[in-house]
Parts: sequence; C-alpha cells; structure tokens
Amino acid sequence: MCEKCKGNYYITTPIYYPSAKLHIGHAYCTVATDTMARFKRLQGYNVMFLTGTDEHGQKIEDKAKAAGVTPQQFVDNIVTGERGVLDLWKLMNISFDRFIRTTDDYHVAAIQKIFKRMYDNGDIYKGVYKGKYCKPCESFWTESQLVDGKCPDCGGEVQDAEEEAYFFRLSKYADRVQDLLENTDFLEPRSRVNEMVNNFIKPGLEDLCVSRTSFTWGVPVDFDPGHVVYVWIDALFNYMTALGFENDKYDDLADFWPADVHFVGKEIVRFHSIIWPAMLMSLNLPLPKKVYGHGWLLLDGGKMSKSKGNVVDPYVLAERFGVDALRFFLLRSFPFGSDGNFSNESLINTINVDLANDLGNLVSRTVAMAQKYFGERLPETQTADDEKDAELLALVSSLRDKYEEQMEKFAFQNALAEVFKVISRANKYIDENAPWVLAKSQELKPRLARVLYNLLETIRVCGGLLTPFMPDTAAEIARRLGGARMDWDSLNGFGVLPADAATVAGSALFPRIDVEKELAALEELNKPAVPALEIEPYSEEKVDFDTFCKSDLRAVKVKDCKSVKKSDKLLCFTLDDGTGTDRQILSGIAKYYKPEELVGKTLVAITNLPPRKMMGKESNGMLLSAVHTEKGEEKLNLVMVSDAIPAGAKLC
Ligand code: MSP
Repeated sequence: MCEKCKGNYYITTPIYYPSAKLHIGHAYCTVATDTMARFKRLQGYNVMFLTGTDEHGQKIEDKAKAAGVTPQQFVDNIVTGERGVLDLWKLMNISFDRFIRTTDDYHVAAIQKIFKRMYDNGDIYKGVYKGKYCKPCESFWTESQLVDGKCPDCGGEVQDAEEEAYFFRLSKYADRVQDLLENTDFLEPRSRVNEMVNNFIKPGLEDLCVSRTSFTWGVPVDFDPGHVVYVWIDALFNYMTALGFENDKYDDLADFWPADVHFVGKEIVRFHSIIWPAMLMSLNLPLPKKVYGHGWLLLDGGKMSKSKGNVVDPYVLAERFGVDALRFFLLRSFPFGSDGNFSNESLINTINVDLANDLGNLVSRTVAMAQKYFGERLPETQTADDEKDAELLALVSSLRDKYEEQMEKFAFQNALAEVFKVISRANKYIDENAPWVLAKSQELKPRLARVLYNLLETIRVCGGLLTPFMPDTAAEIARRLGGARMDWDSLNGFGVLPADAATVAGSALFPRIDVEKELAALEELNKPAVPALEIEPYSEEKVDFDTFCKSDLRAVKVKDCKSVKKSDKLLCFTLDDGTGTDRQILSGIAKYYKPEELVGKTLVAITNLPPRKMMGKESNGMLLSAVHTEKGEEKLNLVMVSDAIPAGAKLC
C-alpha cells in the first residue's frame, strides 16, 4: 500500500457470460462498480477493481457448435472481438485494474487445485446427479428449470436420467451461513437477507453438484478424466485467483483479500451469499466484507429484450447520447438496490432536464457572464459575502459530507440528488442576483465579481463530486474553470479557487435533445433488419411414401392464358396435358405474370385434385410454383421444366 493512501479497497463486478452481446442491463452493474471505484480513488484509497468474463459451460459449447466454431473462438470473438466486451468497457470509460477470463491458464490451473483441496478435505465427494435429460439437446435440467415440464431450450420431452458427479457439502455450512446473513452486514440491501434465509436456507440446503460429464467445455477435474468443474466453483473463485490465489501470476492477496464488496445482480445473490461463503469456509479463507445485490433494469416491467421497442444496445446509446450522459442516467434514475424501468424516453428526458437545463446551463451561463463582464479572469476586488449568499455557501460547504454518506451506502441516486439540489439552488442564485443588472453599474462590479466567484466555486465542488459518475464531463468543467482543483480535500470547503479565477469559454456541455425526433430515429434503428432472403420453414410432419405417390404430377404445355374478369388474382390456363382434351386450370398468380408471357411454356400440374369452381369457372388441378421472401417481399415463380419434356409426361 502506498504511504499517502487511506487504505486498500477491492471491488468486483460479476464476470459476464460471453454467450451473446451485452445489453444496457449488463452495463448497469459495471458502470456502478466503476463509479464506486473512482469514488474510492478520489477519496484516496488504493483501489483494485476487477471485472472479467465467465467463459465455460454447456451453453457456450452449444452456441459455438451452432456457429461452427470452437468454444474458444466463440468466446474470443465476444470478449476481444470488434465491439465485444472489452471494446464496450473502453468506450464506457470503465477503469478496471484487472480483467480475468476464466479460460486464462493461471485460473484454470488454480481451479483444479481448489477442487482437489476441497476433495481432499472431504467437502467434495462423488455421487449421482439425478435430473431430467433432453436427448436432442444432450442437456441435463433440474425440475425447476423445465418449462411446462419440457426442455427449456427445444421444448421437447425430457426423461429421468442420472450421471455420476461430484458434490460440494453445502448442507454442512447451512447454520454458519444463516448466522452470517442474519447477524452481520455481509449481505445488503437487508431485504435480500430474508429472501435468502426463507427461500433457500430454511427449506433445507442441499449439497451442490459441482462437476459434469455431459459436456467438455470446462475446467477438467485433473484426477478424474471425463469430469469438468461445473461453473460456480470456476466462476466464484475468480475473485481470488485474480489476486494470485493458488497461482504465481499475481501476488495481491495480502493487500486486497478479503474483498470490500462484490456488486452482483439480484438473481445471483444466492450464489454469492450462500455458496460462496460456504466454499470459503470449507478452505478456512476470510470471507468478503460485503455482497451488494442490486436490482434489475426492466423493460415494460419485464426482462430486457430488443423486441420491446427500445434500443438497449449500450454501443448505440453511448454513441448517440455520449458516454457520460448514459452513465449518469443509469445511476441517477434508479435506486441501486431495487428494480427500475428502463426506457429511451426517460433517458432523453433525464439528459434534457438534469444535464442540459440544470448542469449545462449553470456552467454555460456562469462562464459566459464571467467572460463577458471581466474577460479571462475575475478581478481580485470583490465585496465580502452578502446575507443573500449564506444559503448557497452553506449548501456547498456541507455537500461533500452528505454526498460521501450516500456513496458509502452505495446510494448513488441519493448522492446525485444532493449534488443536483445544489446545482438547482445555484441556478436560482443567478436569477436572484441578476448579474446583468449588477453589470450596469460600475459601483456594483465588486459585488458582481463576488456573485460570479461564488457560482464558479459551486460549479467546482459539484463538478468534482460528479467525477466518479461523469469523468470526462468533470475534467471539462475543471478546464473551463481554468484548470481548477477537484481533489477530495479541495471539495470540502468554499474558497479554493483564487479570487481572480480564470474561465475558458466553450460550447454547451449537453445540447438539448428533441425528444420526438430522437425517439422516432431510435424506433427506426430498432426495426429488425429485413433478411435478404427467407425461405419457408421445413415441415416437421412426415408424409409416408405411398401417400406422396398418390399425387399425379404431369408436364403440361400452356396453349392459352387469360386474366379472369373481376379478379385481380386469377389467371385461367388452357393446357395440353397429352390426353388430346384441353385441361383448364385457374391459378392465383396474376400479380406475378402477364398472361401472354406464359403461352408456350412447359409447366408442372397436379392433375388428380378434385375440380374446384373459382369465379364461375372450373379448375382441374393446380400448377406448381416456388415461393420465397426477398427483402421482406413475397416472390413467386412457376415451376417451368424443359420444353423437351412432352405434354402428359409423369413426374415422379
Ligand atoms: N457469469 C455469471 C456471474 C458469475 S460471478 C462469479 C452471470 N453472468 S451474466 O452475464 O449472466 O450476468 C452478469 C450480470 O449482469 C449479473 O449480475 C446480472 O444480474 C446482470 N444483469 C443482467 N441483466 C440485467 C438487467 N437487465 N439489469 C441489471 N443487471 C442485469 O450471471
């Protein structure tokens, strides 16, 4: 630890499954973790911020197979490929100190040692895993994973099945884990404790299956070939292997373990607050100080998906609205511990109200006035503070403490609310003091200088406290304030800027967005891309050979073809079918062909269908045609065969 530092601080995000591209819900936790890491650095801590990817498991193996690549190629593409996970974190200004991939060699080897240690101490034992098996998917499912009793992947029938597997003695740690949850602040928010204890521990904790033989994409159990470690040991221990546990790649355990906090989404709280401490107890390792289970971003009250009419791709959102605006929105709009409804409209409104109107205007107006009335620097001759200033000064002076109190509780939304209370008050202060009136009198110039100084100081403190949320914006504000200090100590009081503070003019920090126009543009973007070519799905239903052979398919020659009165669909064909008697067939293809272009062609007809009347005319059979969809438009082509085939020839 460095001498000047307040201490070490270790914070982590869940490591992501690279099974598909990330959406804005995934970015939520990482932005929150980044904000916390930056806040701790601002306070003076020596921070280790870990994130990464959780790359093993059947789902990845299956997806790679479907894509025709190896599992490693599949995950490499999503993690390190263009617009992959790493690119996204770079774009979103995520200041992680370490990035772990569970396919990293050092991690794989460490997991094998960890597994063996728990096997040797008797907490991992061999047993039989009973579950439901889906044959076509080659997948095991638990009862609760089934959807209406069927395979959740293909919807097919499942059967009872067993496979040999290793189990972790989770049940042995039930009492100690319950005590940890109920009698310490290990898990927050507190509401999640009851959920864990009542739903999982009290009904009886079962031992956990920790190996599989039905797939191979995982960490091999080195003392029992055929078994791979089943994801949670592999995934959870990343928090320690990334510091050097059971490997020589890093040497940071003494400084950073136990972790100060693991941020995790609510659906994986169970793994982090029950299974993780139990595994650490098994190895007599110190437990992390805290697990914080945050809420989910929802769309229309349900799960995120692209089809719900909102753009949820963080790339698109960050590129259109700016990274800082997106980061800010995520933490300003939703209380971290609860679920929140995401929408493009609320994103735009938050940018307009908080960033364009309140923060942006305060900065633009103040800097523009300082420049207009005094040029590059304020004059040192200023009046002392007025009574009118007391409220603003008191608010700014106490802001850092209030903000810090909220940040320490991970209450990002409340911390921002404190800052924005002061920003609003400062905008009101401009109107109350009407600098443009003060500017009219030479005598009032020292008062005008003081009013502007107070505003610049307010902006400096607010800007500084916004640094963890909007790092680029805060840096730009510091620049406009002539390179103002924004370090933690300087944010605790009023009067840090020199009296002759410098200002630098610039364009609007957050231009106002036209809500209607932007929503229409996003809707356009969200329209599914029309596939160039689509064919009908193949029929699952089988036809037996004899039934198929009953269809009498014949080559027929078009002797005449006419449109049918009062019908814009039908064409009426007079056909030579080789019998010597003309055959009449009506076909609904007028949209695709002009009648005259078909005369003389050799087509294929099914001839033994019962006669049908259409528009008063009898049709004796059906002409074969091929259909497909091109760029969203349905296309039809009559099946035409070689003119060398004589009329009446049977097709079989
Ligand atoms: N690989 C596991 C974590 C292992 S940690 C040892 C995993 N990965 S995940 O990619 O499925 O999810 C990563 C994180 O994203 C989880 O914390 C999850 O809660 C979070 N989110 C996924 N969708 C989300 C929202 N819609 N909203 C907020 N967070 C969400 O789980």
